[in-house]
Amino acid sequence: MTLEIVVGTQWGDEGKGRIVDLLAAEAAVVARYNGGDNAGHTVKVGNQTFKLHLLPAGLIHPHAFGVLGNGMVVNPTSLQKEMEMLRAAGIEVNPQRMMISYAAHLITPGHKALDVAQELARGAGQIGTTGRGIGPAYTDKAARRGLRLLDMLDPQGFRQKMREHIRSVNMQLQVIYQAEPLEVEATAAEFEDFAVMLKPYIGDAGAKVAAALAAGQVVLAEGAQGTLLDLDQGTYPFVTSSSPTAPGALTGLGLGMQREAARVIGVTKSFQTRVGAGPFPTEVQGKAAERLRGTGANPWDEFGTTTGRPRRVGWLDGVLLRYAVRINGLTELMVTKLDVLSGLKTIPICIAYHSQGHEYKELPLGPADLSPFEPVYAELPGWQEDLTGARNWSDLPRNAQGYLDKITEISGVQISLASVGPERDQIVKREKN
Ligand code: GDP
Ligand code: IMO
Ligand code: MG
Repeated sequence: MTLEIVVGTQWGDEGKGRIVDLLAAEAAVVARYNGGDNAGHTVKVGNQTFKLHLLPAGLIHPHAFGVLGNGMVVNPTSLQKEMEMLRAAGIEVNPQRMMISYAAHLITPGHKALDVAQELARGAGQIGTTGRGIGPAYTDKAARRGLRLLDMLDPQGFRQKMREHIRSVNMQLQVIYQAEPLEVEATAAEFEDFAVMLKPYIGDAGAKVAAALAAGQVVLAEGAQGTLLDLDQGTYPFVTSSSPTAPGALTGLGLGMQREAARVIGVTKSFQTRVGAGPFPTEVQGKAAERLRGTGANPWDEFGTTTGRPRRVGWLDGVLLRYAVRINGLTELMVTKLDVLSGLKTIPICIAYHSQGHEYKELPLGPADLSPFEPVYAELPGWQEDLTGARNWSDLPRNAQGYLDKITEISGVQISLASVGPERDQIVKREKN
């Protein structure tokens, strides 16, 4: 019975997809538990690059069973596209190897239109959402008027619910946001077709996952977004509307407390990035930012997988990392993109915050308002060597090892692996002492 939870420790895009791809080699089930197609998880296998938004990244492994948990919001248009994308790459996608929870919620064109209209109305206070309808879909869920995958199993009732939903959305679009209404009948009819397509995939995902655990199999829970985007624990209101943190894997998959502790793997980028608005104490601008972000020439440069937006960049924030350790109960860390830091003379790492004559090692009042704080940096010596060929811990230059040791010292959590490029084999594992 092994539950392994992969969770981002920052604001998303830590490299969770590539880590899930590594761990999925040993997993029977790979399950997404939160969010929807706001996620963009990149997996590179040889000359193939997969960008997954909804399907678990582990599905690329032919042996793995994919689950979309009840904590997710599912846009059927995106889902169909992604299924076809995988099939075109020679990967089987069928009900024998994938299940969607009956309790997951649907994202409709109505939710997308509301997301866009609400962002426009926020003006200068924009969150910078991905525009995928995530917030409005979770709003309907919490308001107990959402459409679930379960509803698709009753075609007549579903058509009626879709009509009512689109009418209600139209009212909001027209009255509150002065936006164009959607076609009621055409949208309802389109979703009826999706219902036919998705019917064989709809099931009790929680029972499926529990059975796998009971049979002693490894279940890999693939978090989307990151700790600081968590609706409850993140930099509210600049967050997403789901629970990306590790406890969200239990509620989002329909699992109870595990008798045996889970392996909770925090994926940490070796520097810090953020897409969209919100606080970011260690953010840098100018030349330093260009250096961390890249120009877009490399596929891993910091431009959004889902939206193509340039990501904001900065130095690793140890205060927020410690917070992520606590909120998730991390048992280990995997550090990505260490190769990107090669060539820097020194590397700043934030070890505390400073405000009005006080130094804070922990957040006094959570991460929502970080504006009073100035980061306190330790300057670590950099390394000049190219790391992309490193395959053993001992291949890493001493200063790169020192940087990783500093992350462990700050977080109190061992690093089990560091990645030095996007390819499957571009990893170094830490030999256990
Ligand atoms: P996710 O959302 O957490 O899965 O991360 P994304 O896929 O959105 O962004 C991570 C990007 O970094 C992708 O382009 C990956 O291929 C790339 N990547 C992951 N690990 C490494 C690494 O160790 N080095 C480099 N150079 N790129 C990496
Ligand atoms: P992965 O899984 C990075 C951000 C958006 C915005 C905020 C709210 O690839 O790490 P939403 O559309 O969810 O309502 O937007 O959350 N965001 C992400 N940032 N990586 C993601 O996913 C994200 N998913 C949402 O940019 O700031
Ligand atoms: Mg991403």
